[in-house]
Amino acid sequence: MQIKNICCIGAGYVGGPTMAVIALKCPDIKVTVVDLNAARIAAWNGPLENLPIYEPGLAEVVEKARGRNLFFSTEVDKAIDEAEMIFMAVNTPTKTEGEGAGMAADLRYVEACAKNIASVSKTDKIVIEKSTLPVRTAEKIKEILDSEGSGVHFEILSNPEFLAEGTAIQDLFKSDRVLIGGDETKSGQKAVQALVDIYANWIPKEKILTTNVWSSELAKLASNAMLAQRISSINSLSALCEKTGADIEELSKAIGMDHRIGSKFLKASVGFGGSCFQKDVLNLVYLCRHYGLEEVADYWHQVIKINDYQKDRFAQKIIDHFGGDLTGKKIAILGWAFKANTNDSRESPAIYVAEKLFKAGAFLEIYDPMVSKESIFRDIDFYWEASGTEDLKSRISVLYPVNELDLSNDATAILTECEAFKSLDFSNTIVFDGRGILSSSIYSIGKG
Ligand code: UDX
Ligand code: ADP
Repeated sequence: MQIKNICCIGAGYVGGPTMAVIALKCPDIKVTVVDLNAARIAAWNGPLENLPIYEPGLAEVVEKARGRNLFFSTEVDKAIDEAEMIFMAVNTPTKTEGEGAGMAADLRYVEACAKNIASVSKTDKIVIEKSTLPVRTAEKIKEILDSEGSGVHFEILSNPEFLAEGTAIQDLFKSDRVLIGGDETKSGQKAVQALVDIYANWIPKEKILTTNVWSSELAKLASNAMLAQRISSINSLSALCEKTGADIEELSKAIGMDHRIGSKFLKASVGFGGSCFQKDVLNLVYLCRHYGLEEVADYWHQVIKINDYQKDRFAQKIIDHFGGDLTGKKIAILGWAFKANTNDSRESPAIYVAEKLFKAGAFLEIYDPMVSKESIFRDIDFYWEASGTEDLKSRISVLYPVNELDLSNDATAILTECEAFKSLDFSNTIVFDGRGILSSSIYSIGKG
């Protein structure tokens, strides 16, 4: 079966870059990315320097394919109707209320999306789960599609995303593997093959792995959980290094040189952030509890607990340095995104650290070369507990650009590994380095 027309629902961090690369590599396939958010679609159709997502190399890909076979639109129904293959790349945040709140994924957007597909489709479709989803979601999606559809056949595939922000385009060009899960039925295998054929345009065949749907769904959660676990492992050891005089960088290097362990994801930090790690580990924990596997659930939950401990420990170091009270202290926060080279601040450790410092009385000056003032205040409103109780703006300022930064203050906290921070003048401040990027500072994570 040769696919001619693809629709992707959700023009976010996953849908946008993934579809741009598919369109680039498959010029004969029309790819339409749709979203209910009209402003986001307008930005995808606007100037290349203002695309809604910043990813190195993305603008170049969009420039080549947009208007040729890549389209961004708000006409969701029309794009669904025309497509033979539909990717679901909508957001799946952690639930904030109801059963599983704080743990399970909120599937309301996925369900709305499935209902939409069911009501609009007049021909058979291959529907692909692209968003990270709990295991066995495909079953739920199939139920909705079959019960609300008008008799057309839907084949559900799982094709999880493994791209990391900041390197998304490179990750898409040269994926370690592409995972495609499908039913073992004849029609399931035909659908799997249709998707394999698309990726085979640029991914070597041996890197395209086909599995059953559940393995594919679980592999995504497990991969992220294993990566997050490495960071929590090294972060837990950073606390021990600070007590014993061992140096976390030396330790990471020594551990990582064992080829059975490998050197990646062993960089101690103020904690991991991002839209995937915490969400996926919590999802895994929830899933294990659901199946009565308490010990397994507790094991993975500890990865999150260490991450929370690490963020808290870092903020507490600063507070302790000033005798437990930051009233009147001016503290610069360098880095707001969850890592360097992205404007994404979802679950960023900076949000937590800043809140704790603020609540201890500090004046904060926040700077991130990639994150706008509006986004920073939006995060504060959204994430901080009871953020509306005080005039925040009287104690928080957001600086931009870098030459406004005057680091003559009481302390500076470095929270992302941004290159530009390394050359700043820190001679009039006390630096707390949460990423281990400076050669000397009063406190550097994992150094005694
Ligand atoms: C991650 C996975 O890497 C990707 O495969 C998946 O599809 C989505 O989740 P992402 O969240 O974009 O990607 O970023 P990643 O580079 O993995 O970093 C996640 C967090 O871990 C960041 O806060 C980063 O600073 C932190 N980190 C990473 C460390 O603290 N130490 C490390 O050694 C590596
Ligand atoms: P991710 O990081 O998973 O890509 P984002 O939040 O960046 O998540 O993007 C998801 C996008 O999906 C958002 O732009 C949102 O507006 C869009 N979306 C959610 N539900 C629907 C829907 N039913 N129809 C169309 N778009 C949707």
